[in-house]
Amino acid sequence: MLRVSRLASLVVPSATLAAAARAKQLQTQGIKIHDFSLGEPDFPTPEPIRESGRRAIEAGKTKYTPASGTMELRTAVANLYKGLGLTVAPDQVLISNGAKHSLHNAMAATLNPGDEVLIPTPYWVSYSDLVSMTGAVPVLLPASLEEGFRLPAERLEKAITPRTKMVLLNSPSNPTGAVYTKAELESIAKVVLAHDLSVISDEIYERLVYDGSQSTCFASIHPDLPARTITISGVSKTYSMTGWRIGWAIGPKPIVAAMGNIQSQETSCPSSISQAAAVTAITMDQSCVEEMRVEFQTRRDHVCARINKIAGMRCPVPGGAFYAFFDVKGCLGREIAGRKIVTDQDFCDGALNEGHVCLVPGSAFGAAGHARLSFAAGMKELDAGLDALEKWLES
Ligand SMILES: Cc1ncc(COP(=O)(O)O)c(C=O)c1O
Repeated sequence: MLRVSRLASLVVPSATLAAAARAKQLQTQGIKIHDFSLGEPDFPTPEPIRESGRRAIEAGKTKYTPASGTMELRTAVANLYKGLGLTVAPDQVLISNGAKHSLHNAMAATLNPGDEVLIPTPYWVSYSDLVSMTGAVPVLLPASLEEGFRLPAERLEKAITPRTKMVLLNSPSNPTGAVYTKAELESIAKVVLAHDLSVISDEIYERLVYDGSQSTCFASIHPDLPARTITISGVSKTYSMTGWRIGWAIGPKPIVAAMGNIQSQETSCPSSISQAAAVTAITMDQSCVEEMRVEFQTRRDHVCARINKIAGMRCPVPGGAFYAFFDVKGCLGREIAGRKIVTDQDFCDGALNEGHVCLVPGSAFGAAGHARLSFAAGMKELDAGLDALEKWLES
């Protein structure tokens, strides 16, 4: 008799993928759903990158690559970080099958059962499951809307116990779009150094920041941080390459080598074709990245302004990423279209089933009473979806 392992039973399916699956199910019944659940840019992958993938196939780059990635891509990534103030050698870079895989490798290579990992919330749905899969313990530390969803360093410090091993940072954040300032990160760095902690800094949205603000590479802000920090990023969000599955981790050489060993046993290597295309993405003219960023900023302004006009909702304007994360507590306790709305899950269930708008409940991100809308969708579709949401709220 086959039984699910302890490890597998610790893992729950991703809430965002579950919401998207429910939307697809309704769509197969012929219902038009405005789906704002997924964190996936709607733009096509820019043509020079696609062309590079085609060329890689024609040139026969269709075989295993070194387990940790091609030297060409590791070098391109290492060079990229010079511009972000971090000196990185190619053998400090591990290329993986998406940033999610990089996170898994980083945790598998550094965490032991019982280690505590401090995670500011609202947080990206996968973090706690990825931590739990190693036997380590996620410790969730809430930051409020009033705090800009950024955890003050003092509260981080208060949560430290003798078992605390690591802090998991994500700026710009999914789901809130919050961008920590350099000064805030410096305060966090002081705590990290004072308590001999390590850090995983997920910076996958680093290029999607608005209003002229800058995302700070955490490891770059103090000379003692690179030895205790693993920086995670990738091409999925910046270049609209979610399906190509290329992410990376940057860290001290022995840790990167350990991650490489794990990866070599698990997946052999990332896709050879995607790696060739990722080199093109990183080294080509970057104006398409700027064009996408500007479009996201226009959508962000429009979406947040509309949500803030709806009674019962509060939507802070995110500094980065492509999500509006808004407070819906003012809508709880109501009955909408015959459904009693008590929790954010009820709110999202009602919005989907009766309003035909797919959002993700804040509780999936450790922040009950909120909802997340991904504005990685065209302006016409965003407007149609917000019209539908308003209509549902009035019903
Ligand atoms: C914060 C964050 N980290 C990592 C990832 C994973 O990215 P990838 O598609 O490269 O695995 C995502 C994707 O949604 C994300 O939002």
